[in-house]
Order: sequence, then C-alpha cells, then structure tokens
Amino acid sequence: MKAYYERRAAEYDDWWRGTGRFVERHRPGWDEEVAALRRSLEALPPARTLDVACGTGFLTRHLRGEITGVDQSASMLELAQARVPAGRFIQADALELPFADQSFDRLFTSFLYGHLEEADRLAFLREARRVAGELVVVDSALNDEVEPVEWQERVLNDGSRWQVYKRFFASEQLAEELGGGRTLFAGRWFVAVQS
Ligand SMILES: C[S@@+](CC[C@H](N)C(=O)[O-])C[C@H]1O[C@@H](n2cnc3c(N)ncnc32)[C@H](O)[C@@H]1O
Repeated sequence: MKAYYERRAAEYDDWWRGTGRFVERHRPGWDEEVAALRRSLEALPPARTLDVACGTGFLTRHLRGEITGVDQSASMLELAQARVPAGRFIQADALELPFADQSFDRLFTSFLYGHLEEADRLAFLREARRVAGELVVVDSALNDEVEPVEWQERVLNDGSRWQVYKRFFASEQLAEELGGGRTLFAGRWFVAVQS
C-alpha cells in the first residue's frame, strides 16, 4: 500500500473531485455527499485531533482545533501541509504511532480503516485507543454496486496496476466493530462513526 499511495499522491484528489480518471465514473449525488460529509466534520467540537493517514489533507482542513496529521507517504504529507499550513504533519505508520498515551482528544481517520486486513485493523484500533479518547472513522458506504469486501485492481495515470484490499460499511456495522458509537453521517457513498 505504501508504494501505491506514494505514487498516487499527485493524482489522489481526482477521486474526491471527479476529475482525471474519475470523470467517467457514474457517482450520482457524490459532490453533494462530499459537501454534507464536510459539514458533519465541521460540526464536531474543536479538539486536539490526530488525523491518521491524512493523505492530501482533503478532509483534514475541515477538522477544527489543534491538528496533527500523519501519513506514511512523504508526497501526501507535502500536499497536506500546503493545504493546512497551521497543522503539524509527520511521516509515521498508523500501526505504530509515535505519540504518548492519550496525547490527543480525538483520533480521526478517513479511508484507511477499510483498507486494513484483520490483524492490521486490530493493531490500528489498539493504537487509536492508546493515543486518543475519541475515535472518528470515515469510510466507504456499502451500496448496491459493491461487495462488502473486494480486492480491487487500481490503475494510475502512469498505467501501473495495483491490487488493493477494500471494505465497504453500513454505519451500524462500523460502529459495532469500533466497540460502539454513533453515526455522524450515513449516505450512499460515505459513512462516518464517532466512537
Ligand atoms: C485512501 S487514502 C485516504 C487519504 C485521506 N485520509 C482522505 O480521506 O483523502 C489512504 C492513505 O492512507 C495512507 N496509509 C496507508 N497505510 C498507512 C499506514 N500503515 N500508516 C500511515 N499511513 C498509511 C496512504 O499513504 C494514503 O495517504
């Protein structure tokens, strides 16, 4: 996953914006849902927040409070830092966070959890609980066009092909996996749970 996302950094926001390779994707209501998801994040009370696997900072910029972002990809972090100048961005592994216990009020993560296979998922949740009291997870919603678990073939602009593990969630199922929580957002494309 590391090499894939490093290579994808410069074209990553095409997925959010429906540009580049994503122009031809049929995603009814996508832009409206991105805006609604953004509003639900902006409505969270300001907090000392760690955004794990922040990517280009596309959602990070809508989190309020004192923001730290981590990602394993240097190119992603560079884009995130430019987008959120007041934030602190650090290259680190989500499964081994370089922070003391309970250093943050909230750990936020978007579109990482669903890429983790079981052992990594459990390691991530242990780390998340160790460094923060609250957990907010945003991920892809289960809808009639996808399977709950897929191995997807992804193609980048340079023609390279990558196999990516990907899960899709109903918000109740995600909340249960996180050990309980409330749905912040549930749409056709995205779910967000606060635990
Ligand atoms: C699908 S992108 C999501 C980016 C961003 N959170 C968003 O919502 O746009 C997944 C991100 O997770 C990062 N990532 C994957 N595995 C990681 C790990 N073990 N530790 C840190 N970052 C990781 C990738 O580099 C990539 O930036």
